[in-house]
Amino acid sequence: VADPPAQTATLSQVESQPKTREVTILYGSETGNCQEVAETLSGKMENGNFQVTVSSLLDYKPKSLKNVDHLLVIVATHGEGDPPEPGLSFYETMNSRKAPKLEGTQFSVLSLGDLSYEYFCQAGKDIDKRLEELGGERLHPRVDCDVDFDEAAEEWMDGVLGTLNERSENNSAEAPAPQSTQSEQSAVYSRKNPFKAELLENINISGRGSNKENRHLELSLEDSNLEFEPGDSLGIFPENDPVLVDQLIEEMHWDSEELVSVNKQGEVRSLREALMSTFEITVLTKPLMEQAAAFSANDGLRELLQNEQELRDYMHGRDLLDLARDFAPWEVPATTFITILRKIPARLYSIANSYRANPDEVHLTVGTVRYETHGRDRTGVCSGQCAERAEPGEQLPVYVHRNPNFKLPEDPDTPIIMIGPGTGAAPFRAFLEEREEIEAAGKSWLFFGEQHFVSDFLYQVEWQQWLKEGVLTQMDVAFSRDTEEKVYVQHRMLEKSRDFYQWLREGAVLYVCGDEKHMASDVHDALLSIIQQEGGMSAEEADAYIEEMKLQKRYQRDVY
Ligand code: 2AM
Repeated sequence: VADPPAQTATLSQVESQPKTREVTILYGSETGNCQEVAETLSGKMENGNFQVTVSSLLDYKPKSLKNVDHLLVIVATHGEGDPPEPGLSFYETMNSRKAPKLEGTQFSVLSLGDLSYEYFCQAGKDIDKRLEELGGERLHPRVDCDVDFDEAAEEWMDGVLGTLNERSENNSAEAPAPQSTQSEQSAVYSRKNPFKAELLENINISGRGSNKENRHLELSLEDSNLEFEPGDSLGIFPENDPVLVDQLIEEMHWDSEELVSVNKQGEVRSLREALMSTFEITVLTKPLMEQAAAFSANDGLRELLQNEQELRDYMHGRDLLDLARDFAPWEVPATTFITILRKIPARLYSIANSYRANPDEVHLTVGTVRYETHGRDRTGVCSGQCAERAEPGEQLPVYVHRNPNFKLPEDPDTPIIMIGPGTGAAPFRAFLEEREEIEAAGKSWLFFGEQHFVSDFLYQVEWQQWLKEGVLTQMDVAFSRDTEEKVYVQHRMLEKSRDFYQWLREGAVLYVCGDEKHMASDVHDALLSIIQQEGGMSAEEADAYIEEMKLQKRYQRDVY
């Protein structure tokens, strides 16, 4: 059913009064970066006679798009080209027969992604195409951003604002919207203006004999004005390993002390500093390989680029030092080479303490990532820095990253079930600290799992203290390598399936944090079978039950 061309009429009307233009901004990402861009854009529109609606895809009904004149979608891509979890149901509807007709809607899409993945920005590409199929008119071309999305996102925002203003100038006598006013409160710390937090404590909390090295970090937020809620994360801008940086510089015959420019504003640093703190050197992407090929005097790289599969296999698990060694000799000055590098992105860690209980500190649980591949020992960039270099007294650039999809229930009486094996336990330490602080009456149940009871029972003393005090009602643990047969958290859930289902019926909110690929999906399956078995439901009915839980925000996941 075609809508009457009301919107088109509005656009062609010539009015002498400044007219309010309605703009809907939708965002969807698991990390919250899209929300950040959406809020920035909405801020830029504040002074321009725009009436802006900002919404997460999670809370937005595609039906409502029928009345939208200007639609801006900011969306991230997850895994193999999938939409982010909060956007799944929106995507499904938009791709079904229930999708609204969008004649008269002007739209533009900003897609966030990571060039090191094969299906780069696929979710954004798909929605951009779909909006056009449904009759929408592209207001501004889609922009696909890599992990260091700031500059590309700025350009897209400027482009969108420019076009919106241009069109309303042509169609009404209205003055163009003033460009964004830079906020005066410069002491607001954010991803773009991180706070230098002093490291107070950095200890390995995995015991002797453990296969793991899990560290507990405490950082000072004194005088930062930063606030956070249970479930939020801390972003840390890490530094690359100086040994790796020095090896790379040597391999390329560069000079560590040469001054190089690190941004469009022309700020300069020594090459060594820039490779340590500004540029990413641990991930290879296809565009990087293509651009690097022009600087390599070795035909091998150009040959590798001929074969997509071989190229992917090569890039997997390798870094710039591998590239430098494998395709020498190079004939490129550092100042040229760094222009093809991405900015180093921040790493997010779930905050493990409650602001209410201790507003001046932020605690993290950081699992050290170490592995050997392609003939070299490697460590995670940030976790390696925490394990090997970060000393108390040092400062780390940080910001608070809100996670609206992982929040304690507003009602402190609501029961909660927390599933957090390994470092996934971190946010639950914050949950319980908060509930202790506010003297919440709601029941709580923790499932924790790790390899060995003696060496890996993270925060054991604290959980037990909370159990004793009644802050934590129940705890079930699964130590996978203490017994002949492996036991995981989902086995404990199944053993307690009747109680588990009873808690759900009482309205408990279920939280899952930790490994996505294996744990979270196995826990999901366990949940399904508990609901089927205890609720006497078919698989479809249990699925619907879980969908309903999600809608009510009673099934929240923070998985990685
Ligand atoms: P494993 O290392 O013995 O396999 C935290 O890492 C805990 O999660 C460990 O005990 C680990 O067991 C366990 N784990 C590994 N795979 C899992 C899965 N698919 N589901 C739940 N827990 C898992």
